[in-house]
Amino acid sequence: MRETQSNYKVAIIGCGRVSKNHWGPINDIEGFELASICDLQPERGQPLADKLSVPFYRDYDTMLQERPADIVCVLTPSGMHPHHVIDIIEKYGTHIVVEKPMALSQSDLVRMRNAAEKAKVKIFPIYQNRYNKAVQRVRLDLSEGRLGKIALGTVRLRWCRPQPYYDRDPWRGTWAMDGGALTNQGIHYIDLLQYLAGKVESVSAKMATQFVDVEVEDTFVATVKFLSGALGVIEVTTASRPDDFEASISILAEKGTAILGGLACNQLDCYTLDTTAETECSVEIPDAYGFGHWDFFRDVLEDLDGGKPHPISFETGCDAINLLNALYRSAEEGREVFINEKLASKRLGEENADLKAIYLAEATQA
Ligand SMILES: NC(=O)c1ccc[n+]([C@@H]2O[C@H](COP(=O)([O-])OP(=O)(O)OC[C@H]3O[C@@H](n4cnc5c(N)ncnc54)[C@H](O)[C@@H]3O)[C@@H](O)[C@H]2O)c1
Repeated sequence: MRETQSNYKVAIIGCGRVSKNHWGPINDIEGFELASICDLQPERGQPLADKLSVPFYRDYDTMLQERPADIVCVLTPSGMHPHHVIDIIEKYGTHIVVEKPMALSQSDLVRMRNAAEKAKVKIFPIYQNRYNKAVQRVRLDLSEGRLGKIALGTVRLRWCRPQPYYDRDPWRGTWAMDGGALTNQGIHYIDLLQYLAGKVESVSAKMATQFVDVEVEDTFVATVKFLSGALGVIEVTTASRPDDFEASISILAEKGTAILGGLACNQLDCYTLDTTAETECSVEIPDAYGFGHWDFFRDVLEDLDGGKPHPISFETGCDAINLLNALYRSAEEGREVFINEKLASKRLGEENADLKAIYLAEATQA
């Protein structure tokens, strides 16, 4: 039972594919109340509002003026996250839950951090796979030294995203609003790689667009050197056909090997340190989004209630964005790039006024 009785009113902006992983936990967890939802496209938002019995708005300004919220979930296209997060914080001073990737560029992270500090609110970035049982078990053993020194950490993501996936919405497959396989799909796993194996020192990468007609890459490979001296390999593709196969991470360490597999690192396929954990820490999931959003929202509640700070802080959320940019920069320049060069990708998050105009709150007035 929660000791405090505060009920946090939550508003959702963006009623697309990921929204069920927000209204689901908000409805299920005592302490949250879904106040209202919003989408520029009424055909997406209105049926959902009817189903959930909450008011629907096309425009978030009207929504937040008429129905003040304590927390706003920003589930809009990735390249719009900084604009929407900062706009909402500055106008309404709410806490923010923001989907991955929280931003595309490091400069936007700075602007978001400054806005939150000024308004004294929190930004909670989503990396729900950190909650996977398999991830938690391996991380605990690594942090308590039971696996010893890491020799090699690898990511292998083999998913299928054919042309109709990109054609569904104008933002998909663009440098300004989405990024490629490494950003949209790979971000979870490059986050987990550092979560488990520690921070990266340098990367050498290559990318290509193989099977779809989009600006961004559908296939990305890199070699990695960690600060610890461990080496790593990243292989991320959405060009696997005809289906999704795996999103796995391997940690090869002095005292044992961990292979986290399944569709989204939801299984512990091999764990030489404790083979019983292979069953205990493997969980079936209905889709690649998994169940982590529920634990994530419980931790938001605990943080706002004054309990333990959220384990996924804004700052640790930035590590994956820094690595993402270094990886692209390496592929763009064809050289090894060091994280401490703090370089941004030349294209990820680039300005595109026409695309941005589609997703501004004012777009409803058009
Ligand atoms: N954590 C995960 O596993 C996960 C899974 C899927 C998507 N995501 C992320 O969630 C975000 C959304 O992805 P999606 O697949 O749900 O996209 P989507 O295109 O299906 O939905 C986005 C919705 O936002 C709406 N929107 C855009 N601008 C708006 C505005 N100004 N006001 C109101 N509504 C607005 C659009 O109309 C659209 O319906 C992306 O950043 C994506 O990377 C995360």
